[in-house]
Amino acid sequence: MAEHRLSPADLILPVFICPGETRSEPVPSMPGVERHSPDRLLNVVEQALEFGIPAIALFPVTPLDCKSEDGEEAWNPENLTCRTIRLIKRRFPEIGLIADVALDPYTTHGQDGLVRDGIVLNDETLEALSRQAVCQAEAGCDIVAPSDMMDGRIRSIREALDGAGHHDTLILSYAAKFASAFYGPFRDAVGSASALGAADKKTYQMDPANGSEAIREASLDIAESADMLMVKPGMPYLDIIRTLKDAFHLPTMAYQVSGEYAMIKAAGQNGWLDGEAAMLESLVCFKRAGADAILTYAALEVAARLGR
Ligand code: PBG
Repeated sequence: MAEHRLSPADLILPVFICPGETRSEPVPSMPGVERHSPDRLLNVVEQALEFGIPAIALFPVTPLDCKSEDGEEAWNPENLTCRTIRLIKRRFPEIGLIADVALDPYTTHGQDGLVRDGIVLNDETLEALSRQAVCQAEAGCDIVAPSDMMDGRIRSIREALDGAGHHDTLILSYAAKFASAFYGPFRDAVGSASALGAADKKTYQMDPANGSEAIREASLDIAESADMLMVKPGMPYLDIIRTLKDAFHLPTMAYQVSGEYAMIKAAGQNGWLDGEAAMLESLVCFKRAGADAILTYAALEVAARLGR
């Protein structure tokens, strides 16, 4: 008797948006994943809904000429993310839309926050993030997901959203986001790897060696009124999912990140393991660990397979 069962309703599809029209381009380090222009993304959303996937998470590829030191494009209502949110919501109001709140797609240095003299400034970044979140809510996204890990961001964003009348926009906090090598393919996909260069995000993302810190981070975020929690990466951090779920009983999501996806896909393609079986196994294990939803780049293929 299986205690847990995977269903398409558990899955959230992260998607990469590229500028332009009728454009789709493969991401080399993520076999099977493509960046799509907003019009093409409509087909993806249609398919997701058909397969029973309730939500997608949006990640923009920002053209170089829209990037700047302070990432002002992040709160431009005409930026790629906001335009895409409006386009999708007009056609498919029933799809859940999650927008990432962080400056890294928009900064020339590739950090999630504002930088002065090589240092990421926490407090100064909060206002920028809040403007970005309000902008996304205004465009029609249902959930804003701060992935930047600045201290105090949840309160700042909640106040800004409420102040702008967006009381119903939910906040999904990346409460436990670890400074991970598994983000490599994602940074290729959105083009933040070259911006970041040899720098890292260790002053604000968490040390993979720390577990109790995740509880402290999550309780701060909850006190600041986070509605949901995210643990990221996924598979190496199943213990953190279980701990947060048991401690807080909030909706808890797991992010099977780009590197996890790439590992399973690459090994599958090489015939080193059964890629499809390994994918299904790792996803049901997220449920066993206590995840209420799973972000996975394999959402479409897995949902199609579950529906067969
Ligand atoms: C940054 C962000 C990252 C991912 C999602 N949002 C990576 C980073 O910290 O550079 C990674 C997701 C993945 O690897 O699939 N705001």
